[in-house]
Amino acid sequence: MSATPTAAPTGAPSVDMVEGAKKKAAYRAIAEHFNSQTQQFVGIGSGSTIIYGVEAIKEQMEKNPPPNDRYIFFVPTGFQSRKVIEQAGLMPMAFDSLPENVMLDVAFDGADEVDDELNCIKGGGACLFQEKLVATRAKKFVCIADYRKNQARLLNSWKYIPIEVAPISHATVMRQLKLLGSINPVLREHTLAKTGPVQTDQGFYIIDAPFKTLLSEEDIVNGKDGSGKDGVWDVATLAHKIKSITGVLEVGLFFGKTGTEIQAEGGQGGQKPV
Ligand code: 5RP
Repeated sequence: MSATPTAAPTGAPSVDMVEGAKKKAAYRAIAEHFNSQTQQFVGIGSGSTIIYGVEAIKEQMEKNPPPNDRYIFFVPTGFQSRKVIEQAGLMPMAFDSLPENVMLDVAFDGADEVDDELNCIKGGGACLFQEKLVATRAKKFVCIADYRKNQARLLNSWKYIPIEVAPISHATVMRQLKLLGSINPVLREHTLAKTGPVQTDQGFYIIDAPFKTLLSEEDIVNGKDGSGKDGVWDVATLAHKIKSITGVLEVGLFFGKTGTEIQAEGGQGGQKPV
């Protein structure tokens, strides 16, 4: 892992500091990993940080347009992401229009929390299924995470794992999650208007499932037990367990083969090969 640490601000950060950190991380990620001259298919994630990423892509394309006016296609991870692409005047391409033999050159996305091994929690914005589809179709996945998101282990500061489930199955899945040791999983609901459960772009629901802080691969190599005894899991084992519950479409744990590469401003940066 190559690290690019800079000092994280002390005390409660102001909105300006947070937005500044997100923007700086996004601009650095795009400068290092987007290339308007060579790339043709680029994944664009969801959330607020990626908006700065798209801004930086647009700037780079204006300064350095693709050769012979050829198009770069931007593959969104949901409705919001598609709007951000369109509003920037870039060319969207639906994931299911990608020719079968084409891999994305790179996919950029945000994260809710990132650990020392570059495993991520995602889904704070309820887009995890399409985010994982796009990330795993990319040769390189670049996750843009400002200093607040960096933690030694997952579920250190972020409180829950988002899980996308078929509506009809939500109560059953919740029951199974409790059996795995989740402390009070909740169905995500709209907070401002009381309009019922949040629905994803697939029309599915989101369960937010709190667990104890997750162990890493290094912890397992060092002999710690991540098998769920006393509710303590390692990232990979828990992800597989949750994914195998009938009714679960996707779990917001990105790890191992996702091939994460992180741009973290004010924290740790690094790279993990696919
Ligand atoms: C949406 C996501 C987002 O990438 C994640 O929530 C980070 O969002 P933000 O950049 O707004 O902090 O996974 O499902």
